[in-house]
Amino acid sequence: MRKPLIAANWKMYKTPAEAESFLHAFLPLVEGHTRNEIVLCPSFVALAPVLAAIKGSAHPAHPHPRIHVGAQNMHFAAEGAYTGEISAGMLSALGVTHVIIGHSERRQYFGETDELLNRKLAAALEKRLIPILCVGETEQEREQGKTEEVLSRQIGRAISQIEPGKLEPMVVAYEPVWAIGTGKTATPLMAADAHLMIRTHVAQLVGRPIAEALRILYGGSVKPDNATSLLSQPEIDGALVGGASLDPASFARIIQ
Ligand code: 13P
Repeated sequence: MRKPLIAANWKMYKTPAEAESFLHAFLPLVEGHTRNEIVLCPSFVALAPVLAAIKGSAHPAHPHPRIHVGAQNMHFAAEGAYTGEISAGMLSALGVTHVIIGHSERRQYFGETDELLNRKLAAALEKRLIPILCVGETEQEREQGKTEEVLSRQIGRAISQIEPGKLEPMVVAYEPVWAIGTGKTATPLMAADAHLMIRTHVAQLVGRPIAEALRILYGGSVKPDNATSLLSQPEIDGALVGGASLDPASFARIIQ
């Protein structure tokens, strides 16, 4: 059984104070929820305040699920002269447990390549962070019938040279680029189809047991009103939510 994971990617939104006020409203809404693993990925400057707010709100009489905190990016090196960068070890020392790797916005605007993401993925696993590796085709690639080729290439290069046994914690997020922030969602069947391509390819590369246990999230215009139909697909193990995760009530509705 794969535990569903619902993650919020806040991208470059919310100051530390805004993140705290989100939690103030959000935590009571998910009190007692256990079905999904919940992960919040704020900007780097809001990681510590979010971790502190979650810890501070823990109360034995009012248990809320353990909310996990993830970063949106990291550097592959352990440390070094890399001005402006943050390492996996730094994140993990802070209490961060997850990290998004290779979001299409990082690929598109910051030139991140599959080879770079391979190094980041290996470094995240080494520091026991749970990587959420993002893959997805552009609209043009889909129209040209290249979806499977693109997904296979992105996955294959990202996990290349990594010992299969070490990949167990990895999560994959299928985020078709044309569905991100556009209001266009993949239909549940389209998403399930892409997830099956990914799972089949992972099975070919590293074997069935790892592929069967792999959680594959869908991302791209997930909203409260389409979450149920997407998440009821057996191939869809959760969601990576952008815009609709910024509002506590809307993100809580997606989780519920
Ligand atoms: P939207 O939910 O805003 O489409 O963003 C999806 C996304 O990029 C999550 O990582």
